[in-house]
Amino acid sequence: MSRVAVLQGGQSLERQVSLRSGARVIDALHRLGHDVVPVDAGQDLVVRLRDAAPDVAFIALHGRDGEDGTVQELLELIGIPYTGSGISACIQSFDKVLAKHRLVDAGIPTPDFFAFTEAAFKGLGAAQALPEIEQRLDFPIVIKPAGQGSALGIRFADNAGAVPAALLAAFSYDSKVLLERFVQGPDLAISVLDGVALPVVEAVPVGERYDFEARYNIGQTEFVCPAQLPDGVTERAQELAVRVWEVLGLRGMARIDVMLSEETGELFVLEANAIPGLTDTSLLPQAAEAAGIDYDALIQRLLDLAA
Ligand SMILES: Nc1ncnc2c1ncn2[C@@H]1O[C@H](COP(=O)(O)OP(=O)(O)O)[C@@H](O)[C@H]1O
Ligand SMILES: [Mg+2]
Repeated sequence: MSRVAVLQGGQSLERQVSLRSGARVIDALHRLGHDVVPVDAGQDLVVRLRDAAPDVAFIALHGRDGEDGTVQELLELIGIPYTGSGISACIQSFDKVLAKHRLVDAGIPTPDFFAFTEAAFKGLGAAQALPEIEQRLDFPIVIKPAGQGSALGIRFADNAGAVPAALLAAFSYDSKVLLERFVQGPDLAISVLDGVALPVVEAVPVGERYDFEARYNIGQTEFVCPAQLPDGVTERAQELAVRVWEVLGLRGMARIDVMLSEETGELFVLEANAIPGLTDTSLLPQAAEAAGIDYDALIQRLLDLAA
C-alpha cells in the first residue's frame, strides 16, 4: 500500500476533464487499497504536497501546468516521485510547434506547417507572408494554438478570407499559433504504455458528415478499438507512435494523435499527449482494456512506473 496524492482540477481550460479523470483514478486507487489524498492543484499546491508527504503523486491534470512540465518541476523540487513523463518530455509534447520540429528532425511525418508568435504579427508584419503560406499549405488550412488540448481554439480556414479570424481565435489561447496542412482522413489515436503501443482507436463519425464538428460533438463520433484499418496500417501506426515516444522521451503513458490520409494512405503525426484523458470514455483506458489491461491494473501499472 502506498500513500498517493492525486493531483487533479487545476486552473487550465481542461479543468473539468481533469476532475473526471481524477475521480476515476481515486476510485481505482481505493479499490487497489492505497491511501489516497486528493489535491486540487491551486495556489496551495506546494504546501499541501509537503503536508501530505505522499510516497507518490498521480498526476491527473490536463493542459497547462499539469501537462507542460510545470507541476513536474515542482514535484522534483519537493522530491516526490510522480506518474507519467518527466519535465523535458512534457515541455516538448505540450508545445505542438516544438514537438513538430523534433519530429521533422527525426524524419517522422507530420503535416507541413508554419508557426508564428503574436509578436511576429504585431512587430514584424508576419501577416504580409500569409499569401505565401496559403499557397504552400493549400486550403483548407488548419489553424491552432501551439499549446492547448481538447480541440480548443482549432479552426479550419476554407479560404484566405477566413484566415485572419482563425488566427485571432487561436491567439486568444496562446501567444504562438501554427498553420498546418489539412489531412483528409480518419483520426487515429495510439496510446503507448511503458514504450509499448496499445491497440489503435479510430474516431468514426456517426452519420454522413465527416468533419470537425462531427468528430467533437458527443454522440456524433464513435470510437472503435481495435480500429478496422486496411492491411498493415495498424502496425505502421503503432511503430510510428513508439518512435514518437522515443524521440520525445516520453515515460509511463502517452497518447499519440495521428491522421491517416485517405488519398495516399500515409500517416501523419499531429501531436503527443503526455497526460491523456483517464475518464470512463477516454481513449487510453479503452485501448488498455482492448489489450486485456483493465482500468485498475492500468492505474497500478502507472504507479509502479512512477519515477
Ligand atoms: N492537420 C490536420 N488535418 C485534419 N484534421 C486536423 C488537423 N489538425 C487537427 N485536426 C483535427 O483536430 C483534432 C485536434 O487536433 P490536435 O492537433 O490533436 O490538437 P488537440 O487534440 O490538442 O486539440 C484532431 O484530432 C483532428 O480531428
Ligand atoms: Mg489531439
